[in-house]
Amino acid sequence: MKEILRRQFLQHVAQTSPSPMLVEVERAEGCVFYTPEGKRYYDLIAGVSVSNVGHGNPRVVKAVQEQAARYMHVMVYGELVESPQVRYAKLLAEQLPEGLECVYFLNSGAEAVEGALKLAKRYTGRTEMISMRRAYHGSTHGAMSMMGQPEGEEWKRAFRPLLPDVRAIEYNKREDLQLITERTACVLVEPVQGEAGVRLPEEGYLQALRKRCDEVGALLIFDEIQTGMGRTGTLFAMQRYGVVPDIVCLAKAFGGGMPLGGFVARHEVMDTLQSNPVLGHITTFGGHPVCCAAGLAALEYLLEERLVEDVDRKGALYEELLSDHATVVEIRRAGLLMAVELGRSDRLYRLMEIFKEVGILSDWFLFCDTAFRISPPLTISDEEIRDSAALIRTALDRLQAELP
Ligand SMILES: Cc1ncc(COP(=O)(O)O)c(C=O)c1O
Repeated sequence: MKEILRRQFLQHVAQTSPSPMLVEVERAEGCVFYTPEGKRYYDLIAGVSVSNVGHGNPRVVKAVQEQAARYMHVMVYGELVESPQVRYAKLLAEQLPEGLECVYFLNSGAEAVEGALKLAKRYTGRTEMISMRRAYHGSTHGAMSMMGQPEGEEWKRAFRPLLPDVRAIEYNKREDLQLITERTACVLVEPVQGEAGVRLPEEGYLQALRKRCDEVGALLIFDEIQTGMGRTGTLFAMQRYGVVPDIVCLAKAFGGGMPLGGFVARHEVMDTLQSNPVLGHITTFGGHPVCCAAGLAALEYLLEERLVEDVDRKGALYEELLSDHATVVEIRRAGLLMAVELGRSDRLYRLMEIFKEVGILSDWFLFCDTAFRISPPLTISDEEIRDSAALIRTALDRLQAELP
């Protein structure tokens, strides 16, 4: 990378941490990207579960180009009939379980969560909102309020006061379900917890959660922002576990690489945003036609290429190739959403540097800095899995020698 560009990046582009990855991207293709110097990286993050259909997917690129030439932003959301939105909403509703039929389009994951929380309060007339410990739902005030305690406290403390009347329960703990009561407007949960370091629901837990919400009349909201669009081996994780929420939040891969979020509910629930007050939730750019065209093309691609059917097998292949390495404590996995647990953060931090040298892009998780992430584009081939796993093993060998 040119020194001048590096300096300008650090001076003029706002940073989220004192230690950005600082690798320049020249172009990206499939599951790899290249620097201007021609160095090749396997992208095992996929923009944090965004690029599910691969970088530069020709079908998505074509859809973006054609829609951009036809029209881009015309009017704020919800007034004019824009066919990319309508076609995408229809296809999505066909793929979701019955009842999840009406899509409110936004720009991002945090916005989808904000909209879903408002909808739950509006529909139930209640105020208490419950989330899970080690949950991540976004960085806006409302979404951040739902970051589970006490792990989220480090982030939340500096930004208080946040939303009142929120509480966190322990994911997978059946006894905690009794804390959901007639006061509760909604329970927000990632069916597989992502930033907790890929934590899977125990057998029957999501069913028990659904049952408790039904008993007390609370809405169940699934955050499928990371788990949706094929990531866990079914199109949505709710299908993997056989539990249907009242509202589902989508983003990340939902836009096929473009910024798009949304929440989906049945009409009876969603329609409450229309009146008392009118315009209960509004957005200028939400459901941008180019983003909807991209998301639609990506979903069509996923379905037509039957990509999702192969996701679990590909994840299992990675597991087989890595699990016997001496530094690997365990692998937690739902499809191609994987956490490789090293059990030590000193090793993890050093591994990130070695990964950069060998050409692997990975990172750790917000609430788990002892495991690294493998969540590549779902298009990754077996050969690419074998090749990238060999690079990972080389890096792990070095790690073991350096930090025994
Ligand atoms: C499960 C989950 N929900 C919500 C979000 C927030 O999405 P965004 O960054 O688009 O606001 C993320 C982002 O990492 C996420 O993983």
